[in-house]
Amino acid sequence: MAKILIIDDEPSLRKALVLSFRGDDYDVMEADSKRTALPLIEEEEPDIVVLDLFVPDERDGFEILKASKEIKKDASVIIITAHGSTNLAVEAIKSGADDFLEKGFTMDEIKFRVRKLLEQKRLREAHSQLIEDYHRLRREVDERYNFNQFVGNSKGIRDLLNLVSRVVDDPDTTVLIQGESGTGKELIARAIHYNGSRKDHPFVVVNCATLPEHLLESELFGYEKGAFTGAIRNKPGKFEIANGGTIFIDEIGEISPKVQVELLRFTQDHTFERLGGNTPITVDVRIIAATNKKLEEEVANGRFREDLFYRLNVIPLYIPPLRVRKDDIRLLVNHIVERIDRDKGRTLRFSTDALERLEAYDWPGNVRELENVIERLAVTVAHDTITVDDLPAEIRTNSDGLDFDSFPESFRSLKDAMREYEKHIISQKLNEHHWNISEVARILGERRDTLSRKIKRYGIK
Ligand SMILES: Nc1ncnc2c1ncn2[C@@H]1O[C@H](COP(=O)(O)OP(=O)(O)OP(=O)(O)O)[C@@H](O)[C@H]1O
Ligand SMILES: [Mg+2]
Repeated sequence: MAKILIIDDEPSLRKALVLSFRGDDYDVMEADSKRTALPLIEEEEPDIVVLDLFVPDERDGFEILKASKEIKKDASVIIITAHGSTNLAVEAIKSGADDFLEKGFTMDEIKFRVRKLLEQKRLREAHSQLIEDYHRLRREVDERYNFNQFVGNSKGIRDLLNLVSRVVDDPDTTVLIQGESGTGKELIARAIHYNGSRKDHPFVVVNCATLPEHLLESELFGYEKGAFTGAIRNKPGKFEIANGGTIFIDEIGEISPKVQVELLRFTQDHTFERLGGNTPITVDVRIIAATNKKLEEEVANGRFREDLFYRLNVIPLYIPPLRVRKDDIRLLVNHIVERIDRDKGRTLRFSTDALERLEAYDWPGNVRELENVIERLAVTVAHDTITVDDLPAEIRTNSDGLDFDSFPESFRSLKDAMREYEKHIISQKLNEHHWNISEVARILGERRDTLSRKIKRYGIK
């Protein structure tokens, strides 16, 4: 409820104002002099002060005005003046009053002015809130994509970050990031963008694996109204949206030959046309492409254009899988645990044995898998120190898979053990063969649909 203070030495007008505002759900206070007004302003900090400048003369009026503004900067003061004293009113506005009315105004008029001042105040507050939010988010983004957030001190990661810092300083070079699933390709791409001179422009992501050819084309290049059924209005593509910034083309190994040609054209002069349009559009964007396929192999097999590969592969960045840089695992565990502590207020620790198992495991899903495992533990385990028994079965057992010499207590039956073995072999083969399910089915002598069902049942990812 807005607080309003009415100051007037003339009882009839004061009472009329008090009654009228009270009827409208304001928290109304009144004063008849400087002596009674000042303590109220001090203690109650009203949002609106309605002030008759002559209480009983304008010297007191101006003092009250000054005090109101000093005590509460965002208080609004409406001055009431005698008929024909416009000069004083102007002077009052210069001294900080927000509005003035000459005596003889109607109740509706003053109420309208009060509502307007409150609305302005609300907008001012919303505005400063927005600015504050913006700066907070900005800081969060800067922190999040700072390279300190890309954890790793193995030789492979140090070499990678050396190259990355050169890429950051050169905002126009095209970058190709290769690495298995979950190794942090997108994280590196964002870090490159947010640490370089393009950071105040958009970072736009396009995932080529999730879109069929025609949708991918219209996503990238946009379209003109009428370009195809359903194109009911013009739509800019991601290249236009990313202008000034960076476009991250994820899973580029998946794009069809037709889109490969279109991309090749784009990489030559950064010019394209919207689908169904014929005006060339030129944009200034840095391309960062990523793939978990071995793109050289795709080129050798004729599935990816060699010329496009060379266009993209100006600066090749390779993120090694976690299993070849096991010295990073401890650092990553600490990093993830700290984040969970910050976000959820949950402090986890790992026993020495448990940490050793984490380091022994091969992490086919790389850092993402490590993150998922720890996040799940944070939810499912009630005690603070994670021991070997808390770990998922595939990690509890030895690095090269299964320990044939023991029968862990967590296996309730021989069937359990066999399932575990089956799951292990399937996931190993899937990773070796880039999740080519038909190929793995052939190798293991299973039907493809049986294999798919098992993958689903075991939750292999
Ligand atoms: N070196 C690292 N330090 C900290 N966090 C990492 C690191 N590498 C990866 N992550 C985290 O792991 C998760 C997966 O990373 P990201 O999505 O960048 O991987 P990706 O290579 O794009 O995976 P995919 O190929 O499956 O899309 C993210 O939550 C990311 O923050
Ligand atoms: Mg990714």
